[in-house]
Amino acid sequence: MQLENYVRDIQGFPKEGILFKDITPLLNDPEARHKCLEILVESLKGQKIDKVIGAESRGFFFGMLLADRLNAGFVPVRKPKKLPFDTISASYDLEYGTDALEIHVDAIKKGERVLIHDDVLATGGTAKAMETLVKELGGEIIQFNFLMELSFLNGREKIKDNTIFAAITY
Ligand code: PRP
Ligand code: MG
Repeated sequence: MQLENYVRDIQGFPKEGILFKDITPLLNDPEARHKCLEILVESLKGQKIDKVIGAESRGFFFGMLLADRLNAGFVPVRKPKKLPFDTISASYDLEYGTDALEIHVDAIKKGERVLIHDDVLATGGTAKAMETLVKELGGEIIQFNFLMELSFLNGREKIKDNTIFAAITY
């Protein structure tokens, strides 16, 4: 089974000139989804993870599956003013627009082993913001993992001091 077959290209979404990678077919197919999860878990080679951090919103899908599979806590990183408790914030440039991400101040304890997950590594802005948040709380980043990496956008450069894994590379 080729995971690529479960990612659909949508030309011109959300605006002209963007080729959107739609993962909903992958979410919709239990076998493909399970295989994708196994590939992500295997890339960790048995390393212990205390917390999985997932970025709103598409990072929540597999982020939660990973946390459950790894017996780790799940921490949502959310867009501004969505989290109810005390937060810290990091701003970032996106492939289209700019935004900020927030995390609860008590979500990660100093020295906890963290896996940072998102669906796509594009320009790396989102990933870099998550790195900033995790480091500010004193977490130890074990790996960044993604369903897919758009390697031609060089997002990897922004988080280059880390171990980075993507199930699919374009
Ligand atoms: C998309 C995607 C990644 C991010 C990647 O999220 O899900 O999180 O962009 O781009 P980058 O590497 O250039 O930062 P988006 O902010 O569009 O929101 P969504 O997950 O809520 O759809
Ligand atoms: Mg996202």
